[in-house]
Amino acid sequence: MDVFAPSSASEIIEGRTPKAVEVRGWVARKHTVGGLIFVLVRDGTGFVQVSVRKGSADAAYDAAKGATKESAVVARGEVRDDRRAPGGKEVSASEFTIVAPAESWPITRTAVKSSSFLFDKRHLSIRGPKAIAAMRIREEVIGAAFDYFRQNGFHLISAPTFVQAAVEGGSTLFSVDYFGKKASLSQSAQFYEEAALPALQKVWIFQPAFRAEKSKTAKHLTEFWMIEAEQAFAEQADNMRVQEELLSMMVERVLANRQTDLKTLGRKLKQPGIPFARISYDEARSIAESKGFGFEWGDDLPTEAERAVSQTQDAPFFITDYPLTARSFYHMTYPDRPNVTKSADLIAPEGVGELATGGQRIHEYAQLMERISSQDLPTESFAWYLELRKFGMPPHSGFGIGVERTTRWIAGLKHIRSASLFPRTLSRISP
Ligand code: 4AD
Ligand code: MG
Repeated sequence: MDVFAPSSASEIIEGRTPKAVEVRGWVARKHTVGGLIFVLVRDGTGFVQVSVRKGSADAAYDAAKGATKESAVVARGEVRDDRRAPGGKEVSASEFTIVAPAESWPITRTAVKSSSFLFDKRHLSIRGPKAIAAMRIREEVIGAAFDYFRQNGFHLISAPTFVQAAVEGGSTLFSVDYFGKKASLSQSAQFYEEAALPALQKVWIFQPAFRAEKSKTAKHLTEFWMIEAEQAFAEQADNMRVQEELLSMMVERVLANRQTDLKTLGRKLKQPGIPFARISYDEARSIAESKGFGFEWGDDLPTEAERAVSQTQDAPFFITDYPLTARSFYHMTYPDRPNVTKSADLIAPEGVGELATGGQRIHEYAQLMERISSQDLPTESFAWYLELRKFGMPPHSGFGIGVERTTRWIAGLKHIRSASLFPRTLSRISP
């Protein structure tokens, strides 16, 4: 009896297996040439071609013949070099079993052209090569964050998703009835990070954030994953350094480990140099105006203005010093410019736009109290956030970077929903 070593497609292609292997996966493609059936098997690590010859293994041949697209199969046989096979290797099977058959695959060549159909069938369409490539790049982006923060002494914390204080304003809150009390889903874990600073000094978080975004755009989800970081004794300049190092490391990892996936997506990605360019809000406003997308000083950059400024750059960059009116209440302002905040957005080039927002927070009680009252915000729901300022809160800064927006830019995806396994948007809550 032969011993067949269970082996992954990538191990086989890279020649890291014994000669006799067992492949477990799904039928991605199949074609027949004369008395030979070629089955391209997908197994989560990649693709490997399995061939079954009529006459030499009849039972295997009959099984392979009946294997429909997306059936789960197990094949056993010998690895051979074959220049014509994808990856240059082929498993010549002596055994072939259908473990779970698939009905006629609904994602046909014409269906692929309708993105709404593809997302209605997302539970199936995620098996497609582009969806897989996007998910693997997203994983690499997240993995880089784990490594970056660990290497740099940030502690990973978790925070609740049922909350009462709105971090980023009332207009995008999802309300929840919490046993008769009014609560909402968290827009950002920033306040909890700030609370954790005196305990841990440098913290980061990786969890879902919720925004009732009424806008139907290529960059808005209603539920997305956010990476946030916060440091005590840190100014906005320190905060921007963390952001550029983090994003650079994400790109570096994707370039090092996800070349095949970038190729599948047709993405040409370049390693950005550090430091990133810094453009002030005022400069960005002039650039936007010169491109025909002028806006009032004090407004946040309208989407078209942001896109126009982003198109003038070929690497990620910061837009700094936003007016207070375009920012949330907790932002610190310059002593000599009370209406300008120590904050920045990290912007992706190529028209993609905002990836992260960060800034320095007000750390003094009286100042924060005054800001909350001057903006007519409900003092009660910010009581504990305010109280932090009574117990040793030093200058501190932090930011939040959207995982799907970052993946969208790095992977070169047209729409943010392709960076999410099961996207939630204004018009989609299923599958
Ligand atoms: O710019 P935002 O709203 O900033 C904050 O929430 C801060 N409290 C973060 C902090 O300082 N700790 O959100 C941060 C990032 C955005 O830059 C964007 O990448 C992403 O979260 N984001 C969204 N991604 C997808 N869909 C949406 N609707 C998003 N809203 C924000
Ligand atoms: Mg923002």
